[in-house]
Amino acid sequence: ATPETDGLQSLIMSRNIATIILAAGLGKRMKSGLAKVLHPVAGRPIFLYPVSVAEEISSAKIIAVVGHQADSVRDALGGRNVEIALQAEQKGTADAVRTGMDSLKDYKGTVVILCGDVPLITSETIKHLLAVHDEEKASVTVLTTEVEDPSGYGRIVRSTDGLIASIVEDRDADDSIKQIREVNTGIYAFDSSLLSPVVYEIRSENSQKEFYLTDSIEVCRKKGLRVSAYKTNGTDEMMGINSRVELARAEGIMRRRINNRHMLNGVTFVNPEAVYIDMDVSIGQDVTIYPGTVIQGNTAIGQGSIIYSNNKIVNSRIGAGVIIKDSCVVEDSVIGDGSQVGPFAHLRPGSILGKNVRIGNYVETKKSVMGDGSKANHLTYLGDAEIGSGVNIGAGTITCNYDGQGKYKTIIGDGVFIGSDVQLVAPVKVGDGAFVAAGSTVTKDVPPGALAISRVEQENREGWVEERKKNKKKKQ
Ligand code: UD1
Ligand code: CA
Repeated sequence: ATPETDGLQSLIMSRNIATIILAAGLGKRMKSGLAKVLHPVAGRPIFLYPVSVAEEISSAKIIAVVGHQADSVRDALGGRNVEIALQAEQKGTADAVRTGMDSLKDYKGTVVILCGDVPLITSETIKHLLAVHDEEKASVTVLTTEVEDPSGYGRIVRSTDGLIASIVEDRDADDSIKQIREVNTGIYAFDSSLLSPVVYEIRSENSQKEFYLTDSIEVCRKKGLRVSAYKTNGTDEMMGINSRVELARAEGIMRRRINNRHMLNGVTFVNPEAVYIDMDVSIGQDVTIYPGTVIQGNTAIGQGSIIYSNNKIVNSRIGAGVIIKDSCVVEDSVIGDGSQVGPFAHLRPGSILGKNVRIGNYVETKKSVMGDGSKANHLTYLGDAEIGSGVNIGAGTITCNYDGQGKYKTIIGDGVFIGSDVQLVAPVKVGDGAFVAAGSTVTKDVPPGALAISRVEQENREGWVEERKKNKKKKQ
């Protein structure tokens, strides 16, 4: 941190901040059955981004005003320390703030208002907003920005002295006001002592018959309170998401941010534009990632691993020095240090690979544990299996784990050799060091160190091919 941001940090730490996040709306313009704030950006519901910002500015209290699909919004919060305020009917942003204020009755300090649909906003910007709010000893400070295309946003109307006079919504703006390119971001810092009286004075005399929080500016001016603005310059940060077009734009910007963060931490992308990494993924130093890869959820990738093209990795822990060759799907799995997977392998949920394991072409694993140094290099299905270390699984091996009703386990000890094309009919155990001959169907437990062989004995009929040809000719 620079001395300047350090100063900001201590200023913020010494004050009392409560943050209200407005997230009750359905978001009609999304044309969706899912509440707008639950739509994901880089794998996280939109409104969790402002929640993170509220945490980063050390809010003593965070209140999320929710309405549409409140239960799902509550679930998405997980274990975060956020209070929920239920706005049963969405009567506008001022009404939403009133709802949130109910949880702040005895609170004294600054109230930051964030929008649940503005995910790109950063805590640095909010810290600057708070600094301006303090310096100017304002009752309210609005975060504004100048944009190329202001359509859809509330316009900042300034009086001749340069101060903010009012905010006029796009819907209610006449042609001359529509020309204004300074817009309201929907983000504010309020002095808590006047927030309540101000929002209760707001009326719903507008095209939408809604209570607009933006009207708090005019109310403050009438009351002779000091209104201030922190104006930024056209950055993407302030973008509100109202439609899927904006959702896709925010997604692109967020992904670029995420990839830049990883590159600055020592991760190589052959083409960062073609790699899709969710917000909550962590990646170690000197990892290389090839194009076409999608890494989702809570995935962690250890140092020095190489992820080749077209892989999908979801909620998985990948160790250090791991190589994932092209076109694999890895879901809810663990891959130990130094292991190699793929190409064309599918690790389904519950696959736990030890160190230096090899999973090769067209191998599918599910709910299976493989010990250190074990290999299944080709065309194999391992489901509900517990496999020791140093095991070789031959090509075409199948654990027959399902009989149409129940699922059963296959247990394979250390140092076992399973030949090619073996079926292990579960439940079944193969003891340490045992050897299963190629082509066997194993239905009984194999003791440690034993050879299991179950196949029809081979018979060779000398001259059979020639004889057949002769017989065919005779018949013609
Ligand atoms: C709002 C601002 C506009 C600003 C823009 C910035 C108002 C009246 N307008 O417009 O000046 O330029 O944000 O993005 O404030 N919400 C509730 N309860 C409600 C209504 C809305 O919680 O009753 C929430 C929504 O879920 C959303 C946020 O408040 O997260 C903003 O509401 P939205 O309807 O998107 O307002 P905009 O039209 O974008
Ligand atoms: Ca909006």
